[in-house]
Amino acid sequence: MAETETALELKSVTKQFGGLMAVNDVTLRLGQGERRGILGPNGAGKTTLFHLITGVLPLTSGEVLMYGQDVSDWKTHRRVAMGMARTFQITSLFPRLSVMDNVILAVQGLRKMKMVMWRPLSSFPEVFEKTEQLLTQAGFWELKDTEVRNLSHGEQRQLEIVLALASDPKVLLLDEPSAGLATGESREMADFLKSLDPNISILIIEHDLDVIFEVASHISVLHYGELLTDGPADQIRNDPRVQEIYLGKG
Ligand SMILES: Nc1ncnc2c1ncn2[C@@H]1O[C@H](COP(=O)(O)OP(=O)(O)OP(=O)(O)O)[C@@H](O)[C@H]1O
Ligand SMILES: [Mg+2]
Repeated sequence: MAETETALELKSVTKQFGGLMAVNDVTLRLGQGERRGILGPNGAGKTTLFHLITGVLPLTSGEVLMYGQDVSDWKTHRRVAMGMARTFQITSLFPRLSVMDNVILAVQGLRKMKMVMWRPLSSFPEVFEKTEQLLTQAGFWELKDTEVRNLSHGEQRQLEIVLALASDPKVLLLDEPSAGLATGESREMADFLKSLDPNISILIIEHDLDVIFEVASHISVLHYGELLTDGPADQIRNDPRVQEIYLGKG
């Protein structure tokens, strides 16, 4: 079988905070359209790894490549322009604005348009069409006029992903999308993630093992900043070290 195109590649990525090796020599490949989970206990370096991939933090050493291009020294906005998008561990929506206005702001914020300030935003056909397309595809059209604070917690976390999709990402980084969700909502989140465009390559940090095994085909396990192991999801699920450390079956 021919190997798929590589969307994202990390080569010996390292981040040192003083004496702490938060991310230590991590090498990882995300194929085109692949869904890879990042598993690891609190403080393992998962969020720091996302900061390094997105350019929020500079690398101590190593390389980040996107579609073969070394982006290690690129600012975040250049990586976004090349097709990288992320969501955050902590929610980042405008609670008193409607679902639609939240999406409009995300879409409009990305478009370099000649602004005509006295016209309402929704009168810009390009912005409105993109907003409508995002809301419809994500199953949020019926909720478009609802204030975000009145959505369920699970819907809010899904909407954050819709906002990240506004930039038409090729590589999507999700930091604990089901954090704080009840079991039923986590299940809906897993279904939502599986409904995303299969061409998007996704790296997903998750503590909820049901979600990660449902969504991810491959998993990389971080432990004290180091890559403990990686491989197909089934292999990771049955790895005795992983079971001992993360599934409490020691
Ligand atoms: N800016 C920083 N300066 C110093 N140390 C940091 C900084 N950011 C993170 N750390 C440390 O690096 C380690 C990894 O943190 P990180 O947030 O990446 O973990 P995580 O795997 O995302 O954990 P969690 O599951 O709790 O979200 C932790 O020990 C943390 O305290
Ligand atoms: Mg984290």
